[in-house]
Amino acid sequence: MPTIRPVQPQDIFSVITLAFETLPERYNPVIFNQFYESFPEGFLIAEINHKIIGFLIGVKTTSQTARILMLSVEKKHRKKGLGAALLTEFLKQMKNHSITRIDLEVRTTNTAAIRFYNRHGFEITDTLLRFYQNGENAYHMSRAL
Ligand SMILES: CC(C)(COP(=O)(O)OP(=O)(O)OC[C@H]1O[C@@H](n2cnc3c(N)ncnc32)[C@H](O)[C@@H]1OP(=O)(O)O)[C@@H](O)C(=O)NCCC(=O)NCCS
Repeated sequence: MPTIRPVQPQDIFSVITLAFETLPERYNPVIFNQFYESFPEGFLIAEINHKIIGFLIGVKTTSQTARILMLSVEKKHRKKGLGAALLTEFLKQMKNHSITRIDLEVRTTNTAAIRFYNRHGFEITDTLLRFYQNGENAYHMSRAL
């Protein structure tokens, strides 16, 4: 059975590898440690048999708002509810932090993720032109907590 838990420093290398394999955006590896140090409550991993197969990174943007920066599940483990489990745990953590709104950006072409977020109560509120490194546009999505 997969487990959802807060990230530990020794997990971060595996998270960087998974981000590289599954997300098109290229991140400086240093930022993963920075997210952990600045807001560990927003950094969750999914693991099975001690292998990291998914993660979510969110940050607090104001005293009442948070933003999901990355969410990823290894391809062969998708559509089994792990994305939902990571998101549900994140929302629970944010509620404990008195967060009342969650924001995120997603590629306008990423229909699987847009449908996933829609199902979890997020709505598109804006289009951000050329938001990504490769010039692709983003939708800004948001939901109340
Ligand atoms: C978006 C993402 C994180 C979703 O992760 P996931 O683990 O597949 O998410 P879930 O399994 O909870 O839900 C995905 C779908 O599988 C379905 N599902 C869940 N459990 C299922 C099961 N046991 N049997 C059949 N379908 C199931 C869900 O209903 C959902 O359907 P939907 O797409 O119609 O809403 C994943 O697709 C991913 O990593 N994508 C690449 C990175 C990315 O785009 N990230 C988001 C932008 S940063």
